[in-house]
Amino acid sequence: MAASISFADVSKRYPGGVAGAAAALDHASFDIAAGEFVYLTGHSGAGKSTVFRLLAAIERPTAGTVLVNQQNVGRLSPAAVPFLRRKLGLVLQDQRLLFDRTVFDNVSLPLAVAGVPPRDAAKRARAALDKVGLLGRERANPIALSGGEQQRVCIARAVVNRPVLLLADEPTANLDAEYAGVILELFRAFHDVGVTVVLATHDAALIARYPARSIALAQGRVVR
Ligand SMILES: Nc1ncnc2c1ncn2[C@@H]1O[C@H](COP(=O)(O)OP(=O)(O)O)[C@@H](O)[C@H]1O
Ligand SMILES: [Mg+2]
Repeated sequence: MAASISFADVSKRYPGGVAGAAAALDHASFDIAAGEFVYLTGHSGAGKSTVFRLLAAIERPTAGTVLVNQQNVGRLSPAAVPFLRRKLGLVLQDQRLLFDRTVFDNVSLPLAVAGVPPRDAAKRARAALDKVGLLGRERANPIALSGGEQQRVCIARAVVNRPVLLLADEPTANLDAEYAGVILELFRAFHDVGVTVVLATHDAALIARYPARSIALAQGRVVR
């Protein structure tokens, strides 16, 4: 069961935004079908991260409608937000790991929260760490890892819950080409089993490796 996405005439202005500055999103409309793999492209400041924050109900649109599986996520009650998030695999740009927990704990925590029995959770957490090439580091503290390794832990944490919708905001930004390829393969594998994947990137080389539809943003508008 994958998830569809629909942005209908969505605008977003941040309260702290500079007066007179352009909106982060400006009447943006696009649809992503259930099970589709889509790139979200555009220069820094184009509004890519804002799209993810709206999808995860971290922010609400100023105008317009954001639907995930026909559900208006801009209108969710606070109590309903955790249920939405449980369906999502989220790799955000400003995401932090818990530095007082091990790598393993960071990845298995979403499963514990979802009530997965500890033995299953441990198995799945190790499988997710294996997929991002970090099985050997499960007992490490994230602080001892490089930026790229921390990024891969975030990705393992995002996929461990078997999300129906995988949202990744520049997930390969801190990775060398080899690991960017590993991560792309991981997302492809999720796509292959029907998961909807939205990947923000401005890495043309990455897109060339796995061609898919791109939605291009410029100054908050959909330009392609
Ligand atoms: N919390 C915020 N408060 C005020 N302005 C913001 C905030 N977050 C983003 N913006 C502004 O919104 C615009 C789009 O930002 P963002 O969605 O982060 O773009 P991208 O991810 O494509 O770089 C930028 O001009 C940015 O400065
Ligand atoms: Mg961004």
